[in-house]
Amino acid sequence: MAQGETNTPADAGLAPNKKAKKKKVEEQVTKLKRMAVLAGTAFCAVAPGQVHAQAAGQWANPTHVYTKICGNCHEIGVGPRLKGRKLEVDFIQQTVRRGLKAMPAFRVTDVDDPMLVKLAEFLSTSERASK
Ligand code: HEC
Repeated sequence: MAQGETNTPADAGLAPNKKAKKKKVEEQVTKLKRMAVLAGTAFCAVAPGQVHAQAAGQWANPTHVYTKICGNCHEIGVGPRLKGRKLEVDFIQQTVRRGLKAMPAFRVTDVDDPMLVKLAEFLSTSERASK
């Protein structure tokens, strides 16, 4: 297979709608990776001593994380709805750290442990979105 072609042998067996969905997820992942690269460039511009403080204060609150990361997929139908389902806090944390099929894993450098706990509790107890 020519380099740069996106079809992998695993794709061949997917139904057309699954294929479209996979493509949508891949586009979101590429977008997020690009955002991460941009964020990395921004970090390089500050003095080394400031980097830690900036990384630690990256997220204002769980809603901020949800909007900036999770919502990119979970609010547009790429990933399943998370709000209002009373999902287990542990399950949410594990899914974020390990990834799940098409969903990429997120590391402590993306979302640190204390913020992940808050995010999981926020989602677990959230009401179903009104739309
Ligand atoms: C790049 C897209 C993407 C991003 C970003 C993303 N997810 Fe997902 N997520 C998915 C997809 C796709 C699935 C469904 C995986 C499957 O079962 O095939 C999923 C599944 C899940 C599940 C399991 C839901 C269920 O019903 O089984 C949880 C929990 C979850 N994501 C939480 C999160 C959280 C929290 C974040 C933010 C830190 C996040 N996801 C960010 C794509 C994403």
